[in-house]
Amino acid sequence: MNIMLKRLAGLACLGAFFLLQGCERPPIETVQRGYRGVAMGEVYNPRRVADQAANNAIPDVAPALPGPGPKASTVYKNLKVLGDTDSAEFVGIMAAMTAWVAPSQGCTYCHDAANFASDGLYTKVVARRMLQMTQHLNQDWKSHVAGTGVTCYTCHRGQPVPANIWFGNDGEKHADGVLGDHAGKNEPSQIAGLSSLPFDPLSTFLDAPNEIRVVGQTALPTGNRKSIKQTEWTYALMIHMSESLGVNCTYCHNSRSFTDWDQSTPQRATAWYGIRMVRDLNGAYLDPLATTLPPNRHGPMGDGPKVDCATCHQGAYKPLYGKSMLSDFPALAAKTSTN
Ligand code: HEC
Ligand code: HEC
Ligand code: HEC
Ligand code: HEC
Repeated sequence: MNIMLKRLAGLACLGAFFLLQGCERPPIETVQRGYRGVAMGEVYNPRRVADQAANNAIPDVAPALPGPGPKASTVYKNLKVLGDTDSAEFVGIMAAMTAWVAPSQGCTYCHDAANFASDGLYTKVVARRMLQMTQHLNQDWKSHVAGTGVTCYTCHRGQPVPANIWFGNDGEKHADGVLGDHAGKNEPSQIAGLSSLPFDPLSTFLDAPNEIRVVGQTALPTGNRKSIKQTEWTYALMIHMSESLGVNCTYCHNSRSFTDWDQSTPQRATAWYGIRMVRDLNGAYLDPLATTLPPNRHGPMGDGPKVDCATCHQGAYKPLYGKSMLSDFPALAAKTSTN
């Protein structure tokens, strides 16, 4: 009997040990983000914040500012985006793009060394579209990126392929029919950890304009298709958004009413624009680029890589903690007339 009890106690200890493996080591601190009593605390761990600081430092790259020189289009042959920039500024942008996107590969990652005007390498064609995308983001999506804006570094961080990209995913193969229909769940999720939530909410919400609404606005379910299934899809997306920014749900919502905008923080409105911005980036830039990228860059369904909240944010509430590089690179801040 005694031995049985000891064994049980041993098992319980082992169980508790494995359970606690899922917990984060203290200290845990909280900051109030709402009025007193509304329980809108932001929970964070200073150790993890310190780890993050290095990832969010701005690289040491010489600025590219206009000089008194001639326009780049008078010096070079094949410019479709940066023709109107000053020629010295143009060379500065090329140097910065190399540092931001292909530091170990150098200029020849995008250029044929024998002929810089050639568009022979796919990477140059993609980079030209990326220049247009960056200018479009900074000029037309101020509702999200504000004056801070983005550069190539915001997403690329010194690598040709950004660390956070995603592809369409139709899951593992299953039997046909009702038994095979698992509603997009119960497989390792690409975004919401190993939860049993739908594993691909990104195609649904960040590459298509589906409504992100699950709370009924009327007492009776009149004309209201809100279901548990839709709620699960919404939660999977919300977990992605929280994890991408390194914040809790209460960074944007007061959990007593997730739907009510009056009780939400201003950050929720910024996030609302962010969702529309990401759809625009995927629809107008990334999806069409799939045909320019070689097959080894495609996902399992043959589609191209896409952007989500983590592509820029990488775990920070503002990418690079809100530091802006645009004043050093004015050509990236707005569309140029040859564009
Ligand atoms: C990430 C890709 C990329 C890298 C790396 C890169 N470039 Fe470029 N380069 C481009 C693109 C895109 C254009 C065309 C811009 C346009 O259409 O306005 C271009 C155009 C040029 C041109 C103009 C050629 C002509 O006559 O039309 C020169 C010169 C040039 N780059 C030099 C460099 C140098 C030098 C480096 C290395 C320090 C470099 N580039 C690194 C993408 C790149
Ligand atoms: C909003 C995020 C974002 C920004 C900003 C951005 N990129 Fe990209 N870039 C991507 C994604 C996503 C891909 C697709 C990755 C792939 O090619 O597999 C990509 C691909 C590329 C590629 C192809 C790399 C390869 O090896 O396939 C080049 C070159 C590139 N970007 C250059 C640039 C340049 C230059 C800038 C700035 C003018 C820039 N990017 C800005 C997200 C971004
Ligand atoms: C960065 C801000 C942000 C974070 C963090 C966030 N949300 Fe949201 N949430 C939004 C926005 C914006 C919408 C509305 C989306 C739209 O209309 O396109 C929304 C919508 C919702 C809705 C639907 C409300 C309705 O009217 O039906 C629910 C439920 C929800 N969020 C729950 C959560 C939960 C749970 C978490 C934490 C896991 C969370 N959210 C984290 C911004 C956020
Ligand atoms: C193209 C890069 C990019 C992408 C993609 C992106 N963001 Fe942002 N986001 C930014 C920048 C830059 C800022 C800082 C703006 C500023 O300084 O006010 C920002 C700010 C925010 C803020 C305000 C934070 C605060 O404390 O004021 C929220 C919330 C946010 N983003 C949510 C999202 C969500 C949710 C997504 C995905 C649907 C997303 N972002 C995708 C670039 C991006």
